[in-house]
Amino acid sequence: MLNGSLKVPGDKSITHRALIFASLVKGHVEIENLSTAQDCADTALCMQKLGLEIERKPDEKGSVTVKSPGLSGLSQPKDLLYVGNSGTTIRLLSGLLSSLPISCCLDGDESIRKRPMARVIEPLSAMGAQIEAREGKFAPMSIRGGGLAGRRFDLSVASAQVETCLLLAGLSADGRTTVATPHLVRDHTRRMFGHMAVPYFEDDGAISVERLSEALPSCRISVPADISSAAFFLVCAALLKGSDLSLLSVGTNPGRTLVLDALSGMGADIERLNERLVDGEPVADIRIRGAGRLTGITLGAADLPAGIDEIPILSLAGSLCEGEMVVEGASELRHKESDRLALLVSNLSANGADIEERQDGFVISGRKTVKGGALWETRGDHRMAMSGAIASLLFEQPVRIDDQACIAVSYPEFFQDLESVKG
Ligand code: S3P
Repeated sequence: MLNGSLKVPGDKSITHRALIFASLVKGHVEIENLSTAQDCADTALCMQKLGLEIERKPDEKGSVTVKSPGLSGLSQPKDLLYVGNSGTTIRLLSGLLSSLPISCCLDGDESIRKRPMARVIEPLSAMGAQIEAREGKFAPMSIRGGGLAGRRFDLSVASAQVETCLLLAGLSADGRTTVATPHLVRDHTRRMFGHMAVPYFEDDGAISVERLSEALPSCRISVPADISSAAFFLVCAALLKGSDLSLLSVGTNPGRTLVLDALSGMGADIERLNERLVDGEPVADIRIRGAGRLTGITLGAADLPAGIDEIPILSLAGSLCEGEMVVEGASELRHKESDRLALLVSNLSANGADIEERQDGFVISGRKTVKGGALWETRGDHRMAMSGAIASLLFEQPVRIDDQACIAVSYPEFFQDLESVKG
């Protein structure tokens, strides 16, 4: 059972944006409750190399003051910008760097070098950036920016990273830059633009920006707790009968709440309490009580952007559901920190679940119990590792996770937090 209350660390997506958008400010940005993820530490290091000063506030855990010279004061970094494992960092920074009259190289770890970059290279090149990449589409990539012209992009992938990358470029481009996505994606960028006073226009779901005429004024950003980290506890508590767990101050951006909606749709007992708006982002305390076995559900392409990172953990609820969990239109899962479709299918079947892989998803026929006890391979994917840790609590026997160190990529305190609510 999981009981009590827990506040998971600050949201990773919002923290990346706060650190990167701070470069639009001439002055100070106070960021509270920063994510503790290694991914965000890598973003912070890259921004420091570009000229931001980032100072931890000694008395306030997770708070920093960023001193920024504004876009025009950013400097040519002395060496390459290393993004580690972080897709959000490399994609958002490629937009920012394309807007600057400097040249610099972006690279990351083995997983980053496999992830598709054509989705940012092609549109940024069309705006006028000069980008060279390995095989034209993979990191490392070098960017020479400046002299961009805005245009309209109708994206074929529903990617908040690509949308934000192009908007960052558009803030230094001539004319108007418009981005439309095929399905709704997390709108942290719009909300933070609103909070920081970046002018933008919305029309029929598309968002447009024009050249930022002057640097933004100093501001303060408070980061809500990360729903993608909370998701591991939500699924676990939902399935363990007798659990009664409250997750505090969780970000409930409508582009992120698939885990709540899917669990409710499967019959879980979830309540949102104290709903409020913090610096433009919706936040709530979430109380979840263990209902035991849930029912099946079908998730399709339009549902997935709101929970693309939560499919690994939701699949555990599927493996133990009554009926079937069907996930379709999810081929993006093949391009995350690992090929999450292939890896989920091999881990769950090795551990006794009944799962069938499809080209763009999977079908799980739920079982009353799942045996566990077998290898749970992570291929360095943090969300796969945390899903394995939760599988160990839900299956008859613990699974054997091959690498837990990768969890620090998004949630270094995961095991401590899990221990604090186990009971
Ligand atoms: C993110 C968007 C999503 C998500 C990633 C964070 C963001 O990626 O998977 O973890 O912060 O914009 P895509 O934009 O590739 O879907």
